[in-house]
Amino acid sequence: MTESILELKGVVAGYGPTTVLNELSFAIAAQQRLAMIGRNGVGKTTALRAIMGLVPLRSGRVIFRGQDISTLAPHQRAELGLGYVPQTRDIFPSLTVDENLLAGLKRRPRNALDEAYTLFPRLAERRRNGGTQLSGGEQQMLSVARALLGQPSLLLLDEPLEGLAPLIRQELLRAFRHMSQQTGITVVIVEQQVDEALGYAERALVLDHGAVVHSDGAASLLADTEALERWVGMAVH
Ligand SMILES: Nc1ncnc2c1ncn2[C@@H]1O[C@H](COP(=O)(O)OP(=O)(O)OP(=O)(O)O)[C@@H](O)[C@H]1O
Ligand SMILES: [Mg+2]
Repeated sequence: MTESILELKGVVAGYGPTTVLNELSFAIAAQQRLAMIGRNGVGKTTALRAIMGLVPLRSGRVIFRGQDISTLAPHQRAELGLGYVPQTRDIFPSLTVDENLLAGLKRRPRNALDEAYTLFPRLAERRRNGGTQLSGGEQQMLSVARALLGQPSLLLLDEPLEGLAPLIRQELLRAFRHMSQQTGITVVIVEQQVDEALGYAERALVLDHGAVVHSDGAASLLADTEALERWVGMAVH
C-alpha cells in the first residue's frame, strides 16, 4: 500500500451557521496529482482552506505525513511543507516580479529565484515589472512560482486556469507537468476546466455538498461522460 502524504478524516467546517464540508474524507499518496472537481459552491475552496488552516475544523482531522496538523496555524503548516495558491492570485500588486518572488524565498539564497524563472521564462522577461502591469496569466504564474520557492512537498492549486486564454492555460499546464516531473511534488488541483485538469492529474475526486461523491482515475473519469454530466453538469468534448 502506498503511504498517503495527506489525509482528511471526517472534516466538518463552514462559515457562521453554514456547514460547507460534511464529513469530507480522502487521502492522497505522495507524489500524486489529484484533481478535485465539482459544481460551484460545493466546497472545493473551503476544502483547500481547511487543509491550510484558514478555516477552523468543527470536527474531523487533517493528517499530513502522519502528523495531526488540525490545530496548527497556517504558517506552521507552510513550514511543514504545505503550499497554497489561492483562487484570488495572491501577489503583491505594488511590488515587482522580483520582489514578489523574494517574499516567497523564506531562508533560501537569492539565486533560488532562477528556479522560478526557468519554470516561467515569461516572468524572467518581466522581472522588474510591477504586479499591476502583469496580465492575468502572468499574475497566476507569479503566484504559483512564489509558492514553489518555499519548496512545498504538497501544493494546493485553486483554479489556476480560471479566466485565462487557451494558450496561457497550455503554458501553465506545461509548467505544472514540468514541475511534477522535476520535483516529485504532490499536487491537488481544483479546476472548472475539467478536461485540462483531468489531463494533468492521475486521480480525481468529485465533491458535492462538501463530501466526496465520486473518486476515480483521472483518465477514466474523463471518459465517463455520464458521471461528468451528473456531477459537474457539463459535456466534455
Ligand atoms: N467567507 C465565507 N463566508 C460565508 N460563506 C462562505 C464564505 N466562503 C464561501 N462561503 C460559502 O460556502 C460555500 C462553499 O464555498 P466554496 O468557495 O468552498 O465553493 P467552491 O466549490 O470553491 O465554489 P467555486 O467553484 O465557485 O469556487 C458556498 O455556498 C459559499 O457561498
Ligand atoms: Mg472555489
